[in-house]
Amino acid sequence: MILDTHPLFQFLGKTSFYAIRIDGEGRLLHAGHGPILATSSDSASSAPMTGGYFVREWAGNSLELPGFGDLSNDEVALKISFAKGGEPPVRDLRLRYAGHSLAGDARSGSDPDHGLPTRVRSPRQTLKVELFDALFDFRVTVCYRFTPEHDIIERWLEMKNFGSSVATVEQCFWGALPAGHGTWELTHLDGFWATETHINREILRFGTKSIESRTIHTGALHNPAFFLNRTNRAGFDFGEVWFGALAFSGNWKMSFHARHDLFLRAFAGYNPYDCEFSLSPGASHSTPAFLFGLSVDGWNGASRRLHGFQRDRILPFVGDRPVVYNSWEATSFGVTETNQKNLAAIAASLGVEVFVLDDGWFSSRRNAEAGLGDWWVSKDAFPDGLAPLVEEVERLGMKFGIWIEPEMVNPDSELYRAHPEWVLHYPGRPRTEMRGQLILDFGRQEVVDYLYGTISELLRTHRIYYIKWDMNRTASEAGSVVGKEIWFRHCEGVYRLLDRLRREFPLVSFQGCSAGGSRVDAGMMARVDEFWTSDNTDALCRVAIQEGFNYAYAPRAMSCWVTDERNDQTGRVSSLALRFDVAMRGALGIGTNLLHLSEKEKEEYRERVAFYKTIRHLVQNGDCYRLAELAEHQASVWQFVAGDASEAVVSFVVASHRTAQVLPACPLKGLDAGAVYTAKDYRGETFFQATGRELMTLGVGVRFPQDGPILIDIGFSRTLHL
Ligand code: DGJ
Repeated sequence: MILDTHPLFQFLGKTSFYAIRIDGEGRLLHAGHGPILATSSDSASSAPMTGGYFVREWAGNSLELPGFGDLSNDEVALKISFAKGGEPPVRDLRLRYAGHSLAGDARSGSDPDHGLPTRVRSPRQTLKVELFDALFDFRVTVCYRFTPEHDIIERWLEMKNFGSSVATVEQCFWGALPAGHGTWELTHLDGFWATETHINREILRFGTKSIESRTIHTGALHNPAFFLNRTNRAGFDFGEVWFGALAFSGNWKMSFHARHDLFLRAFAGYNPYDCEFSLSPGASHSTPAFLFGLSVDGWNGASRRLHGFQRDRILPFVGDRPVVYNSWEATSFGVTETNQKNLAAIAASLGVEVFVLDDGWFSSRRNAEAGLGDWWVSKDAFPDGLAPLVEEVERLGMKFGIWIEPEMVNPDSELYRAHPEWVLHYPGRPRTEMRGQLILDFGRQEVVDYLYGTISELLRTHRIYYIKWDMNRTASEAGSVVGKEIWFRHCEGVYRLLDRLRREFPLVSFQGCSAGGSRVDAGMMARVDEFWTSDNTDALCRVAIQEGFNYAYAPRAMSCWVTDERNDQTGRVSSLALRFDVAMRGALGIGTNLLHLSEKEKEEYRERVAFYKTIRHLVQNGDCYRLAELAEHQASVWQFVAGDASEAVVSFVVASHRTAQVLPACPLKGLDAGAVYTAKDYRGETFFQATGRELMTLGVGVRFPQDGPILIDIGFSRTLHL
């Protein structure tokens, strides 16, 4: 609940509180963010803070929204320049309290407009604190929507120019979290194409550490999520961890300012690198949301809060994620009606539920150099159109899905020949292609409208149940009709387009892909049901990628792939058990060239897919604990447990080991201490029985070698169902 005892406002969550207050001069100050102590949790609301504690803090440190000018000479959240007739512009922002309201479930700037239900729909409270710069009649409303059961606040800004001067917003971080004093450790997720979301943990030295995107989309180099803890004061399952994530898929930046007085503040929002926007008199702007919260049980606790929040409140709710087959690794651009039908027949026999036709099915698209933008069926690949394949897929008992990449165009396409001005470019300068393609200018509404027309036509003419929405290049020469605003306007256009399509086709499921996992964030998550996590499907590489993904994003949104025994990207050979066990940690998919499987392998695929269907409710909706991470013992152990502790599944992956070593036993979590659990493997074979107490104290160990011969001696796995 949000307690309004103006001038103090308290957000009382399940395990943490957040507080802000207005000082005597009308400044909005941070008043604390900490755990609710066990002794006071039952009476948290009856023992509110006094608000006096932070009075001794210098107001400049405590500002909830530090603006350039006024008290600041440090990093700021907002920098606005007001035009002043013939005089020099004024860049001194003085925001003072003008009022507040406690509303129902207000919409945040990045909330989807598709109208699809989320799993939990009960209203939440939103506190809106209105701040005003009196000299320029400029209003900034700081909005906080609170989800107490997950200890998460979404914060965004609503700005409106009531004055007569043009206001140019040069810097806008709508997240500005004063973490407080201490020595701090930062955990964030970094990577590159095919090595996305790797966990990076570092001590913050004095100075500024930044992570960002300059690519027009979320990017693979860094992911917009962070976890902060005081050094040595938190671990997997213990200690306080402050976390934050942006619900935004354009150019973003997060920076962490660690000062010599040990004060740390985190900022998150639009990347000021080449980005600004102007608000003319009467104009307004709402930012996307920044999600943040406090875990009292370590990094795992932070992840579980984010997962729960995303499952309940962000992801469009469509029940269980299906088992998907995608033909990309099998047939690449060489798709034909015959080869897709052949793959579909085997996929269906293995238990696949959705068959997805990837790139190469449209217009002149027989390689990466032509056809993007022309979204009609290729006569070369499908002489009789898509209908025969769709019908065959349905006859086999599956649903049909298809790949598109709407934001792009190949210069060798009819669309580009008709509208060469529709791409990002600077007049008179070269238009550099990447993968033979250019980016459409989503600053132009006519582009977004055109795409809506063609994609909705595609969906209307074919029974398409699933769309893989790809985005395969980063921006260069990003000249747009909307100038420097393109760095967030592209994202807004994508959201608008997706929302409109989802509104019109509510039964179509979407998968977000961007050359793998380059656009994974909470904003996109409100529009897609799952993400193509990476183009790297090597099982051992995936363990690390998925571990990082799991820090910030729910397993049900993580598409995972079992592919060929000899991996396409790394050339490594992995056992079928390893490939399945890793891929079963999220939404299971298969990308193997099924035409090469032996009958025995098909039988094993069938058994494992059937097993996955018996545990997917736990993987997709249960609480997830990372019991061991690769960095620790070269082993990764995850547990998924039902909310009522009646069932759990534990997945072990050993990446490398020394002979005679035994992986330290991993005590399980979240079970019922008094209950007796039976551990079974994917064939239903019983391994042992143990009480919840034993499992949660002594844990489950892994002995080497196990599971019979291993194809090559790196990597093995086991998944146990309790
Ligand atoms: C990049 C994606 O990440 C791949 O999965 C595949 O869809 C290709 N694009 C198709 O061009």
